[in-house]
Amino acid sequence: MKTLTAIPALREWRGQSGAPLGLVPTMGYLHAGHRSLLDRARRENDRVAASLFVNPAQFGPQEDLGRYPRDLPRDQRLLEEAGCDVLFAPSVQEMYPPGFETTVDVGRIAAPLEGARRPGHFRAVATVVLKLFHLFRPDRAYFGEKDAQQLAVIRHMVRDLDLPVEVCGCPIVREPDGVALSSRNSYLSAEERRAAPVLFRALCAARDRWAAGERDAEGLRRAMTDMLAREPLARVDYVSVADPDTLQERDHAHPPLLISMAVFFGPTRLIDNLRL
Ligand code: PAJ
Repeated sequence: MKTLTAIPALREWRGQSGAPLGLVPTMGYLHAGHRSLLDRARRENDRVAASLFVNPAQFGPQEDLGRYPRDLPRDQRLLEEAGCDVLFAPSVQEMYPPGFETTVDVGRIAAPLEGARRPGHFRAVATVVLKLFHLFRPDRAYFGEKDAQQLAVIRHMVRDLDLPVEVCGCPIVREPDGVALSSRNSYLSAEERRAAPVLFRALCAARDRWAAGERDAEGLRRAMTDMLAREPLARVDYVSVADPDTLQERDHAHPPLLISMAVFFGPTRLIDNLRL
C-alpha cells in the first residue's frame, strides 16, 4: 500500500483509470468498524482507497481535537491487511492552504441533534468530504450508520450537487456487550467503559417498547431516558426519535424511525442509534 500526503501525487495515482474505485474516509485510529467499511469496499471495487485526516474544522473549540488519538503506523498495518491500495494522509496545510474560505452549507438537515450541539460541525464535514470526492473521484464511498446524521448529510449533499458517487451506508459494528466501536472509546476509564453498554440497552428498551405496541414517540424517548437514568456515570445530552431522512423529531412512532442519543461519561461524549 502506498501512503501519499500531497494532492498532486494523489491526482497522479487516481489517473484516468475507469477501474471502479471505493473510498473510505476516516480520521484514523482505526478499529473493526472502519475495517467493516474497508472490507465492503474491497468486495465491491477493483481499487480501494482510504483517507486519514483529523479534520480540525469539524471540532468545536471545547472539543477533543488536541487529544484525538493518533497512531499512523498501526493504521497503515490495518489498512495493508484490509487490502487497501492507497492511503491519503494529508497535513492540515495541504487540505487548508492559507486563504482557504469556501465551505458547503447543507441546510436544515444539519440543524438538529449533533448539529445543534456542534455548531459548524456538518459544514466542516461536508466541505472536507466534498474535497475528498473531487480528489479521488470514487465510484463508491463508504460511511458508517454509527454517524447516522453525518451519513444523511452526505447523501443530501450528493443529491443536491449531483455528485457522481454512490454513497454506501454500513451497519454499526459493536463490541460483544453492545458498545458501538469508536476511536473515542479509548478516552473512557475502566469504570466508564463498564457503564457504556447502557447506551445500547437504552436503544433496546425503546425498540422493545415499540414492539410492545407503543406508537407515541415520547413513550420511546421516555424508555431511553429511564434506562439511562439507572446508570449514575451517564449524563444524557439528548435522546431522539426522528425521521431518518430529515432528522426532524417525530410525534408518532411509525417506521422508518431513527432512534438516537448522545451521552456524556465524564468529558467523553458517546453517540449511538438504531433504525426501526
Ligand atoms: P471517523 O470517526 O474516523 O469514522 C470514519 C467512518 O467510520 C465513518 O463513516 C463512521 O461512521 C464509520 N464508523 C465509525 N465507527 C463505526 C462503527 N462502530 N461501525 C460502523 N462504522 C463506523 O466520521 C469521520 O471519521 C469523519 O467525520 C469523516 C467522515 C472522515 C470526515 O472527516
